[in-house]
Amino acid sequence: MADIVEWLDTDSVGIDAIDQDHKHLVLLANALLKSAFEGDKDKYLVQGMAELIVFTQDHFSREEKYLAQVKTVDLAAHVAQHEKIVDELFEMNEKLRAGDLDIVAMSTFLMDWLYAHMRGSDQKAFNSLDEAAGS
Ligand SMILES: [Fe+2]
Ligand SMILES: [Fe+2]
Repeated sequence: MADIVEWLDTDSVGIDAIDQDHKHLVLLANALLKSAFEGDKDKYLVQGMAELIVFTQDHFSREEKYLAQVKTVDLAAHVAQHEKIVDELFEMNEKLRAGDLDIVAMSTFLMDWLYAHMRGSDQKAFNSLDEAAGS
C-alpha cells in the first residue's frame, strides 16, 4: 500500500529536531493507516495507535518549548490546537479498543492534522520565529 501522507522538503520549519519529529509522525501515521486498511487490528493497530499518541505528546512538548521563545507566536492558541489533536487521538484510541473505529474518519483526521496543522499552523509559527531572529 502506498503512503497516504508524506513529508515534503517544503514542510521544513528550519529546525532539524522539529523536522525529524514531523517526519517520524508521518511515518507513524502511515504505518497506522496501513494496519487499519489491512485489518491488522489486534497487533499493529493497537500498538501503532499507542506509539503515535506517545510520540505526538513528546513532539508537542518539544515544539512548544521552541515556540515559547518567540513573543510573536500566539502560544496559547497553538497549544490549544495541540490539546485538541491529543484529545481526538485519545477518542480514536477508545473507539479502536471498543471495536468501533471508523477507518475513513481516522484517515481524514490524520491527514487534516498533518497537513492543516503541520503545513499550516506549524509553518506559520516557525516562520515568525525566523522573523523574530531577523533572518
Ligand atoms: Fe508539529
Ligand atoms: Fe504544532
